[in-house]
Amino acid sequence: MSDSEAISGHFRVDFMWGTATASYQIEGAHDADGKSPSVWDMFAHKEGAIVDGCNGDISCDSYHNYKDDIELIKQMKNTHYRFSLSWSRLLPTADSSAPNMAGVAYYNKLIDGLLANGIEPCVTLFHWDLPRCLHDKGGWQDDFIIEKFKEYAKFCFDHFGDRVKMWITINEPHVVAAFGYGSGIHAPGVQDPMSGCYQVSRTMLLGHAHAWRLYDSEYRAKQNGVISITLNSDWAEPANPANQEDKDAADFYLQCTLGWFAHPVYVDGDYPPKMKEAIARKSKEQGLEKSRLPTFTEEEKKIIKGTHDFFGLNHYTSRVCSPVTEETKAMVLHPDLEALVYPNEKWERAGSVWLFLVPWGLRKLLNFIANNYGNPKIIITENGCSTKHPHDNPGDVANLKDEQRCRYIKSYLNEALKAHLLDGVDLRGYFLWSLMDNFEWAEGYTERFGLHHVDFNDPKRKRTPRNSAKLYTKIIEENGFSAPPDVTDGTI
Ligand code: GAL
Repeated sequence: MSDSEAISGHFRVDFMWGTATASYQIEGAHDADGKSPSVWDMFAHKEGAIVDGCNGDISCDSYHNYKDDIELIKQMKNTHYRFSLSWSRLLPTADSSAPNMAGVAYYNKLIDGLLANGIEPCVTLFHWDLPRCLHDKGGWQDDFIIEKFKEYAKFCFDHFGDRVKMWITINEPHVVAAFGYGSGIHAPGVQDPMSGCYQVSRTMLLGHAHAWRLYDSEYRAKQNGVISITLNSDWAEPANPANQEDKDAADFYLQCTLGWFAHPVYVDGDYPPKMKEAIARKSKEQGLEKSRLPTFTEEEKKIIKGTHDFFGLNHYTSRVCSPVTEETKAMVLHPDLEALVYPNEKWERAGSVWLFLVPWGLRKLLNFIANNYGNPKIIITENGCSTKHPHDNPGDVANLKDEQRCRYIKSYLNEALKAHLLDGVDLRGYFLWSLMDNFEWAEGYTERFGLHHVDFNDPKRKRTPRNSAKLYTKIIEENGFSAPPDVTDGTI
């Protein structure tokens, strides 16, 4: 059997099947009932920040439509639902002694509604919407944030931990660092790629670690849940897999993206050696006395190391890597990145410029994680496919027959199954991004990831299932694939 052939088979009997969303992307109600602004409220209102000039003020209005959301999740037979809490809805002044009880009531209703329908909540504490009042005091660029994040985490464990058994501290710290504090294309819009992004990676790792340790020492015994961090990564394929220089470039890219956060948490409490060495060398070349990558004390390394109960992975696509040469020097993504990173021009593109369909990359990445980070329990906390909006199919404006997304889901899940059944990767769950169309950050509403179409012109924000929602239910009912799927076919 060739590696590209689809297989039949099943996931674990207790496999988690979910969909995922995030507070700022779906909730709307941006200033309702005592919520204060987050950095995304601030950023999305800045002229030119969002391609279509839109914002998340209303979005899917899940703050008011959460019962509809629960119904969709139930119809799809999901066992789990991943959503995030809005820090500034719960703690408008970021002070846990002055909570917004309307915010607490909202999440209580959502959590209770899910549980009443047999759906387990998986809750992310921080999916990018930092309270603006904290940003104004320095945000992730100041050490005070570590204690503030811990205070927020404690508040959430106290109020929801009796019912929430699966926690994620921070979603994709790499994207926050690179886009929020590097290129500045995400909130809070800080443009400091040479040092700001490294500063905030340190505080986010320490914030995560303190929250994990708090749960571990004071809540785990009575609440019996699990808690980890969610990291994003492409797969990096060497341009020529037989060429050592290409392999080194691909490994360097993985170390500086996934490894930047995975190495500290899953290996030894510190950044990957290759990354530390390269940034220290480049800092010296610039005439700086110290590396731009801040160091951890021995005490801090001990705090960070081992703060995981599973490996939360967000994966969408892949890249090809080769070494940087004199001619290609100008094309590197970041001056510290000693690898040239690009898509293969033969790959099929989805609705986002960065998203190509490369299902086998998921299998390779799962194996990489198993081999490099101690064979952890892996939960794919996001995977999904976008389409452009307006869609180029005039006969199906809502894109309800989303054939490309159906092919994406079948083929990626089949590769995940291969990783599990043929390679022995300890895969425990899978969450599709996303339950429904929503505010896609700097791309606004021009890119749609939903298994459900949302009519943003309708005051009620009507949700309609796409074929992909039905396909997903079929896969869930089979707990995998009873027969090898035709991954070239986009019908159900
Ligand atoms: C992830 C992010 C999600 C979602 C998705 C699609 O990076 O966690 O919020 O937007 O990408 O781009």
